[in-house]
Amino acid sequence: MKETILAKFAEVFGDGEGAATYFAPGRVNLIGEHTDYNGGHVFPCALTIGTYGAARKRQDRKLRFFSMNFEKLGVIESSLDDLVPSREAGWTNYPKGVMWAFGERGMEIPFGMDLLLNGNIPNGSGLSSSASLEVLTGFILRDFFGFEVSNQDLALIGQFSENNFNKVNCGIMDQFAIAMGKKDHAIFLDTADLSFEYAPIKLENAKIVIACSNKKRGLGDSKYNERRSECETALAELQKVVKINTLGDLDEETFEKYKDAIGSDVRRKRAKHAVYENQRTIQAVSALKNNDVKRFGELMNASHVSLRDDYEVTGIELDTLVEEAWKVEGVIGSRMTGAGFGGCTVSIVRDDAIDAFIEQVGRAYEAKIGYAADFYVVEIGDGPCRI
Ligand code: GLA
Repeated sequence: MKETILAKFAEVFGDGEGAATYFAPGRVNLIGEHTDYNGGHVFPCALTIGTYGAARKRQDRKLRFFSMNFEKLGVIESSLDDLVPSREAGWTNYPKGVMWAFGERGMEIPFGMDLLLNGNIPNGSGLSSSASLEVLTGFILRDFFGFEVSNQDLALIGQFSENNFNKVNCGIMDQFAIAMGKKDHAIFLDTADLSFEYAPIKLENAKIVIACSNKKRGLGDSKYNERRSECETALAELQKVVKINTLGDLDEETFEKYKDAIGSDVRRKRAKHAVYENQRTIQAVSALKNNDVKRFGELMNASHVSLRDDYEVTGIELDTLVEEAWKVEGVIGSRMTGAGFGGCTVSIVRDDAIDAFIEQVGRAYEAKIGYAADFYVVEIGDGPCRI
């Protein structure tokens, strides 16, 4: 990959002199969905697929971007003096947003750059190609200009830029999982205070399989913000009767005791998901510590049911993938992952069942939905690096 992007860099930008190469992973969340903006726990991991970049510092303030994933767009030019979001800027709004966010944090970027990208995260799949690009950009800026920021800061800067520059109200999970990724480990993160612990994922005779629905998220973003505000309203209603800072402060019992303070059935279901999903995540991590992968899988399945029935962020594509997966002998657990409405499912599948899984789920999905799903047997990788 390094040779490929360096060769393309030289072709696109005239010469490859002085270009350095970098990588930032994508991520998959194993359990703990729609909990990160509710002060709950998440359990994601970085993947070995992600975004590759070749970059070179310039002597002026110009920015030149090129993506091998969107070759038709050609070179997109901008400048450090024009760090404002625009529709025409397309995908370059992500790296520009991060440059802007560094400036907001008092770290002015002195010189522009030429940046070429090539990602192998399937587009629009919900495996966080945008957060990957944000962390990659932050990593390059730190490498070029020596800013004193930790990987955790890179995650926070990425989220800040996505919230305030790209106006997507995401939580911290994606950027954190990517910036802090560790090979063969998932990250048990408490989003209330960003304390975290790495948990080894030792799946004996099983692998993580991602099924991509190929249904692009679209309406998803507005629904995402709607779920957030439903949870915020439910929290405000609960705070009138119980002293909590976030929905993540509640266990199931306390929630059941006070839930009638929430003034609508819909909001009660949303809050229930946030509370129960957080508790499931905590239980799932302790099951894993006890080597009880079967229990971990059951909790993944319960997570999907809650996302389908209470949080209502699945849809026929994701439900079909998961419900068909549950029918396959050798599937330990299966659920939607990420924001939902489209994107991917994550399953833990015994090695000897992987072929049958891909065949059976793939066939049933295509028959019902009318187009094919894609399957990826993935590995858990490290965070961003220079390559
Ligand atoms: C998206 C957001 C994350 C998180 C998930 C749902 O991936 O970017 O912050 O909220 O959805 O768990």
